[in-house]
Amino acid sequence: MLAVAILAHLSLASGACTRDLLKGITASYLDALALGKPTTMKSLGAEGTALAYQENDVSLDISKGVLSQSVSIDFNRSIYDTTECASYTEIVSTGKHPYVIGTRLAVTSDSGKLNKIESVVCDDGDWLFNAAGSLRYNKQEVWDPIPEAKRDKREVIKAAGDAYIDAWGDSSVQPPFGKSCARLEGGSYLTGNCKLNFQPPFKVTNRRYTIDEELGAVDIFHNFPFLDKFIPRDPGTQTNNLLRVEGGQIKYIHENTVCSKKSCAK
Ligand SMILES: *[C@@H]1O[C@H](CO)[C@@H](O)[C@H](O)[C@H]1NC(C)=O
Repeated sequence: MLAVAILAHLSLASGACTRDLLKGITASYLDALALGKPTTMKSLGAEGTALAYQENDVSLDISKGVLSQSVSIDFNRSIYDTTECASYTEIVSTGKHPYVIGTRLAVTSDSGKLNKIESVVCDDGDWLFNAAGSLRYNKQEVWDPIPEAKRDKREVIKAAGDAYIDAWGDSSVQPPFGKSCARLEGGSYLTGNCKLNFQPPFKVTNRRYTIDEELGAVDIFHNFPFLDKFIPRDPGTQTNNLLRVEGGQIKYIHENTVCSKKSCAK
């Protein structure tokens, strides 16, 4: 008993990343976004270290970005990755400036401080953007915690996410789609078939993962080649895909893809 207590204490002292830590920081991100006051965020970087802030793959002064705009939040959903010490949050705003924003918060587990905030910020003119549609369909999905005995391992969830993306340029890859797989792409909803293939070569690069075994979720920030006619084909525009995996099978997919200029689709 004593040994267990001491071990637990040691692992805390060395800065283990907990779900509660990530939940607290994520909640304060949401509050700051709603207030339009990034400086109110908890754990804003260790002393003397710069916090990296990016929107749509571009580095930005945090005070000049969407976090300073006071975004009314109609809906939020978050996942927590205690292994990578990161969270991913999506919000939908149907306010005066409608947005769908996906944000990955990366925390240094030793200090419990934020070290990077990166967001995919979608609004009018982005790929299939429609905040009312996003709100309606996202809200109706069920993302309850998966009972412990039924949880997929992190590797299984990650492999499902990678297979989904790898299959775009390689039709020999068969992603594990569930029967009722549904994809929320921008504000449009497609059910029953989540398969996508494009003309190869189609190489998806720059993948950053957030994985939550409790929610059966993986989010992948990455680049999407070809779609945006205003920029070079590769690596392409920024996007992210959030997947819910149940029993090894893909149930839901959410895609938010940014256009460098309005209505960029080829
Ligand atoms: C986020 O969603 C939860 C419900 O899932 C809600 O209780 C909370 O108030 C929301 N936060 C914000 C800032 O809208």
